[in-house]
Amino acid sequence: MSDWTPVGHGESGAQVFRSADGARYAKWGPVADLTAERDRLAWLAGHDVPGQRVLDWQAAGDRARLVTSAVGGVPADRLSPAGLETAWESVAEAVRRLHGLPGCPFSRGLDRMLALAEDVVARGAVNPDFLPEEQAGTPPRELLARLRPEMGLRRAQEARDEVVCHGDLTLPNILVDPATLTVTGFVDVGRLGRADPHADLALLFATADEIRPGLPRTGLFGLDPDPDRIRFYLHLDPLTWG
Ligand SMILES: Nc1ncnc2c1ncn2[C@@H]1O[C@H](COP(=O)(O)OP(=O)(O)OP(=O)(O)O)[C@@H](O)[C@H]1O
Ligand SMILES: [Mg+2]
Repeated sequence: MSDWTPVGHGESGAQVFRSADGARYAKWGPVADLTAERDRLAWLAGHDVPGQRVLDWQAAGDRARLVTSAVGGVPADRLSPAGLETAWESVAEAVRRLHGLPGCPFSRGLDRMLALAEDVVARGAVNPDFLPEEQAGTPPRELLARLRPEMGLRRAQEARDEVVCHGDLTLPNILVDPATLTVTGFVDVGRLGRADPHADLALLFATADEIRPGLPRTGLFGLDPDPDRIRFYLHLDPLTWG
């Protein structure tokens, strides 16, 4: 891999490399995660949502290597506060388009996320760096227990409102053209699937607030975000990685 440069270390257990000419990215990691990502990219390729295309795939034992085309632009977390503010409408438009796709065969609903969280918490594998500051001192078992009483309500809301979610809709996974400040595409779609749109919006808003707090949330995303649902998904997400 001498002509491939590491692109920082993934927090997801995968390593990402960029080709010398910048045209391709290679992701090396657990075969199950990368199979999920490959299959979702294949599905997305048939739809009008910009992003990576699969160029090559190799699996060896429990590891795999997924090579994709580069999406132009810079990750949205590298924009200035003013840049993100300008790009925000384009970000919302891209998210609405993704959320509006029909016929998604992948589910990543609450029951799946809860099962993941239960496994991660039971293994003691929650990364405290992912937790909101005020939760970092609380045992993850306790954090998960606090969410359980809401599950019935959240399931019913999900059944009513589910859309095609990106699944990890943080600013680093949204690429933006720095000249036009418009979205060039999404990357990192291994968790894409039908879910409550608040699952995506929770991560989008939290990561956007780190760059430019107070960006508009209503009237842009096809629904008026419910702060309680945003908080629920924001607290569930860190328990599902590990
Ligand atoms: N095809 C691509 N085109 C453009 N940029 C890419 C591409 N693939 C990956 N990147 C860049 O590399 C970063 C990491 O890739 P990716 O998000 O797929 O991996 P990850 O496992 O989530 O790693 P991390 O935990 O560091 O986000 C992305 O945020 C993006 O900046
Ligand atoms: Mg990523």
